[in-house]
Amino acid sequence: MRKLNIAIVGLGNIGSYLFNYLKENKKILTEKNNCLPVVKYVSAKNKSKKRSLRINKNQWLKNYLEATKLNDVDLIIELIGGAEGPAKKLVFNALRNKKHVVTANKALIARYGDELSKIAEKNKVNLEFEASVCGGVPIIRLLKEGLIANKISKIYGIFNGTSNYILSSMDKENKSFNEVLFNAKKLGYAESNPSADLNGDDVSSKLKILSSLCFNSLLNDKIYVEGIKRIEKTDIDNANKLGFKIKLLGYAEKLNNKIYQRVHPTLIKKDSYVAGIDGVLNAVIVDGKPIGQSTIQGEGAGPAATTSALISDISSILRGNIKFPFSLSSMKRKKLKFENINERFFSAYFRFEVLDKPGVLSSITNVFSKNKTSIKRLIQNPNKNKKISSVIIITHDSKDKYLNKILKEISKKNYLKRKPKLIRIDD
Ligand code: HSE
Repeated sequence: MRKLNIAIVGLGNIGSYLFNYLKENKKILTEKNNCLPVVKYVSAKNKSKKRSLRINKNQWLKNYLEATKLNDVDLIIELIGGAEGPAKKLVFNALRNKKHVVTANKALIARYGDELSKIAEKNKVNLEFEASVCGGVPIIRLLKEGLIANKISKIYGIFNGTSNYILSSMDKENKSFNEVLFNAKKLGYAESNPSADLNGDDVSSKLKILSSLCFNSLLNDKIYVEGIKRIEKTDIDNANKLGFKIKLLGYAEKLNNKIYQRVHPTLIKKDSYVAGIDGVLNAVIVDGKPIGQSTIQGEGAGPAATTSALISDISSILRGNIKFPFSLSSMKRKKLKFENINERFFSAYFRFEVLDKPGVLSSITNVFSKNKTSIKRLIQNPNKNKKISSVIIITHDSKDKYLNKILKEISKKNYLKRKPKLIRIDD
């Protein structure tokens, strides 16, 4: 029986779950892949931390980088995280020393994926990163294998479990932002530093990887990114009244031969498929030819879902065959131009908290007309006690640069009581 020696580097909640899974499912994995997975070594930042794992003394590496040098290691599983520091050092050295690599590290792949895949290809080893994007949703393997026939024009969806969990709990359970974030951390959904979940960076890394796979391009940094930090319960309630849900969505799309990548909170029609995806679930929608539209959903975060993706990558290596990390050779991947969203058209939701006095509404609508933006709906909710009023405006399609100019101009008005809101609407 062939066997594959594995070193797991990083024993946090994902590494620990994976360690136990491999132990308990060794037999079926061997039968399915015709190769025996052997966890030869492990390494963790804090060796003495209490873990419910049975690790033999001789399984511990003295230093995590040893894994890249030992002859009895074939595959290194990197679960350290972060684009720089130890994770970067480990993965570069592993590939240079002809070890296969499986990683859940989207930040690393989004930043160094092009360089890393060149080394992997040159040294004829595999670099697999299914677990870096959407946990239990096997979208990378789907794009590389199941949907290989397709020319893809758009990929979009919900790519961050933590922010989706936060937005849907704020909507359904009436809980505060901080309370829900605390629960997301407890459940192991959020990153150790959850700012990447909240400021859109986590989705941005995932989207860069996906759009590169969809458009056969090198990774591209031209991406508009906005997170959920400024979404308030009031906006969620307003959206509901207007027939929408608010979701943090990522889009990579080809429109009139221009490619855009963008991540931002979005108002999406309540009766749409994506609006119904709640909690830690992720959903990915792909438009392509000849398939038309294809959709996949599942848990996007947490140790169980991530282990499912890691096992898919490990199995692929157990079965053999050297594959191109980004589906086709680095020599063939194109350097495509991605556009700034300034010139792209959107309809949008605005909220202004203003003094309730004569002339304010006409001043606001004046700014809209000066910036070539037509108003579709306007709702005013006065709060008599505070002598202020909430003005909610839904626009027709307008260029993104005009929508931002409106925001900037109205921000300077002395009748404005709080920073205004702009949320794009899905078209
Ligand atoms: N923190 C990520 C999320 C984990 O919430 O989606 C999976 O990448």
